Amino acid sequence: MALQRLLPVGLFAAQALGAAHPIITPAPSLEDRDEALAHRGLDPGSYINSVISGLGSDVSSYVASGIPQFFQDFPIGGSVESSLGIDDDDLKATPTQVLNIPGYANWTDEGWNVRIHGNVYKQPNISRDKLDDLANVFLIGVDIDELPEDQQNQARNLTSSIFVVQQSNVSVAVNFQNDVNVRPNASGGVVNAQGGAQSFELPYNTTTEGDFDAWVTLQNTTGPNGGHLIAGNATDQIQALNVYTNGTNTGNATAYLVPPTGFTIVSDIDDILRITKIYDPKEGLLNSFARPFVAWENMPEIYANWSASIDNFHFHYLTTTPEQITRNYMEFIYKTYPLGSFDTRPLNFSDVAATLSIRQALLDKLFQTYPRRKFVLVGDTTNADVMRDYPRLARDHPGQVQCIFLRNTTATDSTDLFPYDTSGFEGLDQKQYMFFVHADDLRGADIVGGNCHNPAVVQNVTFGYQGRGFGNEVDSAGSSARWSCAALCAGLLITLGWVLI
Ligand SMILES: *[C@@H]1O[C@H](CO)[C@@H](O)[C@H](O)[C@H]1NC(C)=O
Ligand SMILES: *[C@@H]1O[C@H](CO)[C@@H](O)[C@H](O)[C@H]1NC(C)=O
Ligand SMILES: *[C@@H]1O[C@H](CO)[C@@H](O)[C@H](O)[C@H]1NC(C)=O
Ligand SMILES: *[C@@H]1O[C@H](CO)[C@@H](O)[C@H](O)[C@H]1NC(C)=O
Ligand SMILES: *[C@@H]1O[C@H](CO)[C@@H](O)[C@H](O)[C@H]1NC(C)=O
Ligand SMILES: *[C@@H]1O[C@H](CO)[C@@H](O)[C@H](O)[C@H]1NC(C)=O
Ligand SMILES: *[C@@H]1O[C@H](CO)[C@@H](O)[C@H](O)[C@H]1NC(C)=O
Ligand SMILES: *[C@@H]1O[C@H](CO)[C@@H](O)[C@H](O)[C@H]1NC(C)=O
Ligand SMILES: *[C@@H]1O[C@H](CO)[C@@H](O)[C@H](O)[C@H]1NC(C)=O
Ligand SMILES: *[C@@H]1O[C@H](CO)[C@@H](O)[C@H](O)[C@H]1NC(C)=O
Ligand SMILES: *[C@@H]1O[C@H](CO)[C@@H](O)[C@H](O)[C@H]1NC(C)=O
Ligand SMILES: *[C@@H]1O[C@H](CO)[C@@H](O)[C@H](O)[C@H]1NC(C)=O
Repeated sequence: MALQRLLPVGLFAAQALGAAHPIITPAPSLEDRDEALAHRGLDPGSYINSVISGLGSDVSSYVASGIPQFFQDFPIGGSVESSLGIDDDDLKATPTQVLNIPGYANWTDEGWNVRIHGNVYKQPNISRDKLDDLANVFLIGVDIDELPEDQQNQARNLTSSIFVVQQSNVSVAVNFQNDVNVRPNASGGVVNAQGGAQSFELPYNTTTEGDFDAWVTLQNTTGPNGGHLIAGNATDQIQALNVYTNGTNTGNATAYLVPPTGFTIVSDIDDILRITKIYDPKEGLLNSFARPFVAWENMPEIYANWSASIDNFHFHYLTTTPEQITRNYMEFIYKTYPLGSFDTRPLNFSDVAATLSIRQALLDKLFQTYPRRKFVLVGDTTNADVMRDYPRLARDHPGQVQCIFLRNTTATDSTDLFPYDTSGFEGLDQKQYMFFVHADDLRGADIVGGNCHNPAVVQNVTFGYQGRGFGNEVDSAGSSARWSCAALCAGLLITLGWVLI
């Protein structure tokens, strides 16, 4: 709360002080968008206004979590219905859909303990004109009509996945099947389980936001060829089962049964596995809403190599992007990177203060689930929560954080003006972490041996605030940016914000 109130003011002040060279990429004006909406006779509703006004000045959440403000205030439940002028009766006839997020399981005295999480919702029938109006709210300086057809379709697709009506207090049943189609060499040592087919009703109904998140214990059922699930203390392999949600074909996912020891990589997605440019709102919006997802440099090859060379490497993709829009993320990852489990931002984490702690909550849950596994943590410098939480985990869980790899986004992208704080790394063994510039820099890292730092890669960690605004980063043209006051003011307020929270 404190940060929420403080930062916008602070950044305003910072921008005013350094008006010619604002520290944060200035948010483009959305006035044209607003007007266009008014002309079309659509009342954007208060949440859309908040998306718009959020883009204007409240960049706090960008700095906080790397999640753009436009991903912050998605409408839920009743506000979707009222904005679309529909009611529960209109929705009765539409099918219930389920977003089932690929989960993970640990080995316990009772057997395999699997986390099942996701969301239950209905998709209202929105006319194309209205969908276009709504999609335009998420685009800056471009109308959906001006985009190529495939991009128009993606923008509509994503917009409709935001305007869904979550279903509370419903029971969810899932059906486990050992029919996972494992791609050779691209699956992090994952094998299709030889048994374990069974069905469950989850122990709790969905929350008011339509979310479900429960642990269930698998029974050791016999597979088609007399096979069984292998006990977690009798294998190093990761067994996978598909998890189908009863009553819909929209809720398919895969669960990964991960043994107590071994290596797990926790990877962020935006600006590390794909090009998002979250720090540049116009580009960030187009890259998220309209354009096809594009891998960043040759990260797919790096991950494929790790998957092939590190035995039974468990891949876990952790993004704080709101779950409503993560179908595209999962589809992209499964096409491009090794198979693995996922975490996304559940709907009950919606305000900025909660957004700051969601990554920590998800990471803590993972560490609690695998107290004996070793972790490789991957992200980029634009996420303040990554910069805080990754080194914190290394301190809180001695011996469990094998490597921290952070892409230095300012090094390759002159539009990234975000300040970032490296103070969390003070005192950590240099072998444990590396700030890198290009994906290829990761080739030299010896994960299993614990030599994560490639000395050939130039890094300069000052254990304090860094970034272009601090006059210590040189842009690609070689000139040094000096917006020290603006930057310092923002930086101080951010620090203050952290302290107050
Ligand atoms: C494996 O785990 C089960 C359940 O915790 C336990 O009963 C069994 O003794 C363990 N076996 C070995 C070899 O540690
Ligand atoms: C959605 O509404 C349009 C009319 O606005 C109608 O033609 C179409 O059949 C509806 N689709 C579904 C799936 O109900
Ligand atoms: C969006 O596209 C995907 C396939 O790319 C499809 O599975 C999904 O149902 C679409 N979502 C909506 C809301 O149209
Ligand atoms: C959930 O639905 C059941 C059955 O309709 C009802 O008895 C119960 O009170 C509801 N619970 C909540 C929290 O709304
Ligand atoms: C859970 O939801 C079902 C409907 O899906 C309802 O019949 C049941 O009463 C609910 N259970 C509880 C404990 O609210
Ligand atoms: C899998 O990797 C091994 C060793 O790297 C290689 O020999 C084999 O050809 C690969 N298989 C496929 C299907 O790519
Ligand atoms: C779920 O579906 C499976 C297969 O269709 C069925 O066998 C099972 O009884 C269902 N489970 C529940 C809890 O409804
Ligand atoms: C399941 O039962 C089989 C046969 O008794 C046994 O070999 C296997 O270890 C058991 N697996 C689990 C997960 O308990
Ligand atoms: C989910 O799985 C079912 C059963 O295999 C299949 O019929 C359906 O097409 C799948 N749904 C999607 C969206 O792939
Ligand atoms: C398994 O995971 C649960 C949930 O995170 C955790 O409470 C439990 O301690 C874990 N069990 C073991 C044996 O690690
Ligand atoms: C990131 O890159 C910039 C530009 O090359 C450099 O000035 C800065 O020191 C780097 N940061 C770290 C932590 O290495
Ligand atoms: C690292 O950055 C600091 C702060 O800008 C600067 O004083 C120092 O000279 C840099 N060190 C190297 C080796 O570039």
